[in-house]
Amino acid sequence: MIKNDDIRAQFPALDQLVHGQSLVYLDSGASALKPQCVIDALSQHYSKETANVHRGIHYLSAQGTQKYEASRKAAQSFINAPHEHEVIFTSGTTDGINLVAYSWSEVFLKEGDEILISTMEHHSNIVPWQIAAERKGAKIVEIPVTDKGEIDPSVYEGLLKSGNVKMVAMTHISNTLGTINPIKEFAKMAHEAGAHFLVDAAQSVAHTRLDVEKLDVDFLVFGAHKMFGPTGVGILWGREELLNQMPPYRSGGAMIKEVTLEKTTYNDLPEKFEAGTPHIAGVNCLKSAIDFMNSVGYDFIAQHESELLSYAETELRKIEGLRIIGEADNKASVISFVIEGTHPHDLGMILDEQGVAIRTGHHCTQPLMKRFNVPATARASFSLYNNKEDVDRLVSALKKAKELL
Ligand code: ALA
Repeated sequence: MIKNDDIRAQFPALDQLVHGQSLVYLDSGASALKPQCVIDALSQHYSKETANVHRGIHYLSAQGTQKYEASRKAAQSFINAPHEHEVIFTSGTTDGINLVAYSWSEVFLKEGDEILISTMEHHSNIVPWQIAAERKGAKIVEIPVTDKGEIDPSVYEGLLKSGNVKMVAMTHISNTLGTINPIKEFAKMAHEAGAHFLVDAAQSVAHTRLDVEKLDVDFLVFGAHKMFGPTGVGILWGREELLNQMPPYRSGGAMIKEVTLEKTTYNDLPEKFEAGTPHIAGVNCLKSAIDFMNSVGYDFIAQHESELLSYAETELRKIEGLRIIGEADNKASVISFVIEGTHPHDLGMILDEQGVAIRTGHHCTQPLMKRFNVPATARASFSLYNNKEDVDRLVSALKKAKELL
């Protein structure tokens, strides 16, 4: 079995001092660090492999295209998608949701219809739906969260009974609370009510295996940067029969079959949704990130992160005045907290001075802040390269911050 020390050694960013202290990186929920293999692939791309894809007859273009499509194939197998052409490259989770919200609603949403979204959604899984609903005269309906930070299945079931729900858009793992939602069960319930189901897998991709066949959802979106890959590239997977009915989201080169000045016919999947020169470097290096994740394996990740989560929660609870926000039974290694009498922003600054990187603020989940009646939280998010010493450094930095504030 692979060891945490061997994994850490692959991440050069961990080997540096920040404000004179060795870096403790607890902000992987925002963006994960990159292993050497991804850095090397990116460097190789820009050093030797730069060319446009799907457009050239020359060697570098053909090689680039071959690598681009190899990444698509790797992504297909990574999420167990039935078809390669159901994998659409986007610029990230936000882009993927915007694509679906716009294009899907053109075909499937009409006046009086409802879109269910939960209180724990990231703004990226709220705002695009609000815009779509406004365009079509549809309604956004909130799925509330409990005090523990979970969705009550019976409340959700009740909301589905209106008979008007056409889409449920739900996060797999809350970026703020760490709650893991039972997507398979919730998607089944949505389908029984005649609705489609989109899962925002931005946070889950680095923690849990994504299998679109098993989850039985209609759309799944995530970005590469949270799974140790490059920024600016993401994946949208959608069911072929739905994607085929949906109109293009962006238009221009690559997404066309034939253009006259009067009329354009569109390309087949996946190109229909990939207008313009894509993020070639990002896509081509995505395969290295997938290979890296496969080399570590989700079994290691699950075990390691659940040990870290339980150790961190136990140690954090010993700090007087500290309250954890989000206590779901099924939780990923994300801990949001507040400390009585301190502002999360001040905590974050004092931790940073001690080399400990956390995120503070509303985490792009303002409705959730309102729900828990806090203006902001401090959030420590753990990844496969973190260890118990990182937790100890977090705890001692917080104790110091408490003394200072
Ligand atoms: N959505 C990312 C986060 O939670 C940026 O930090």
